[in-house]
Amino acid sequence: MLQCRTLKKTAGILAVAMSLSWGAACAASEDPARDRLDEYAAYIQEHKLSDFGYPANHDVQLEGFYDWLVESGAYKAMSNNAGDPFQIHGGHLNALAFEREVIDFFGPRYGFDLDNLWGLVTFSGTDGNDHGIYFGSKYLEKKTKKKPIVYVSDAAHYSNMRLVDLQNLELRLIPSDAHGRMIPEEFEKALVTYRPALIVFAMGTTFKGGIDDQDAINKILAKYPSVEVYRHVDAALFGGYLPWTTFRNAVNRKFHPFDSIAVSGHKFFGLDEPAGIFLTTMEVKQNQNPFNVTYLDGSMPMINCSRSALAPLKIWWIIQHVGAEGFTQQAYGMLFRAAWLESELRQMGWPVWREKKSNTVYFKRPPEAIATKYDLAPDHDDRLGGDLSHIVVMQHVTQAHLQEFLDDMAAAVK
Ligand SMILES: Cc1ncc(COP(=O)(O)O)c(C=O)c1O
Repeated sequence: MLQCRTLKKTAGILAVAMSLSWGAACAASEDPARDRLDEYAAYIQEHKLSDFGYPANHDVQLEGFYDWLVESGAYKAMSNNAGDPFQIHGGHLNALAFEREVIDFFGPRYGFDLDNLWGLVTFSGTDGNDHGIYFGSKYLEKKTKKKPIVYVSDAAHYSNMRLVDLQNLELRLIPSDAHGRMIPEEFEKALVTYRPALIVFAMGTTFKGGIDDQDAINKILAKYPSVEVYRHVDAALFGGYLPWTTFRNAVNRKFHPFDSIAVSGHKFFGLDEPAGIFLTTMEVKQNQNPFNVTYLDGSMPMINCSRSALAPLKIWWIIQHVGAEGFTQQAYGMLFRAAWLESELRQMGWPVWREKKSNTVYFKRPPEAIATKYDLAPDHDDRLGGDLSHIVVMQHVTQAHLQEFLDDMAAAVK
């Protein structure tokens, strides 16, 4: 049972004030709710560093943000980003101005010109894909008076299939190759040339980090100029780090003409809760169903009304304190360690693969004790010999931790 705990500076002035009264009380009585939370915190601290199998950045750097939040008293109000960050009219308490700055910061990194950019901070990568599919289908419908068909590879994240289902759209699931990439010939076979096409490109599939070959798909589309096309890129993880590397053009619409992109905030960028960004053009935004909302003083194209004001503030904080230089260092560090891990496993004779822009190393599934120790998600592909696992080399996955994993593997393989 945890007794009187040491309060950290993180809780700032409030913590000091609370500790005076609570300090006296805690000697006499215990707080079971706090004990539960402390157990949870201990669990998080113990397990986060060996969390290798999921694309989250556990090197969260928001202490200063939480200090500010408590010390400033801003936490004592309910701010709500209901509304459009590109049409701020004041009124209710919100952080829309910060959200707009976040979108303006990221827009040019993905090739959007500031005078033809619209976007928002989302609740997650899934929420970003929801907007991509919704905006894409409404845009195409307005232009052609026909409902589009949605094309997604069978290796893409399941949220895309779920959302197509939710939005009652027609789906063509395109087979992927052994490395998670949509097979262009299969796409061509599936293409319905008398209906508009909404294509969701996977920019880093969840398990194998497969990247759909947009150029190859575009070459096919060029053969059918009458097909009206909308391209959404699901770049939940890769969209976070690629802009800071020599691979940046892969997520730049000036090189690959996509209409919208969704990126998660809690993957590369290090938010401590699910969030993301969705970016598109003003042209796409202006061709949505205009539901005018009098009390928000404008047309609200986004799906959600109430939206977090804290998530944009956190991303804004991270931009100010990590910034382009920090993102660049983190991105190269991840790719370097991923390449090193791949090469060490290969030298061991263990079957291993990695797309060269990817921080996700996938390999023959290790013995179960190792898979459990490092929380390695399972997959299966007969084309690669059967059961598989992967390690997503995020910021918290250090070379020392990977060495420990490799030592465990070497001992098991002997
Ligand atoms: C490629 C891809 N797209 C979408 C998602 C869903 O993103 P989120 O978990 O932020 O909703 C994930 C999650 O892992 C993903 O890997």
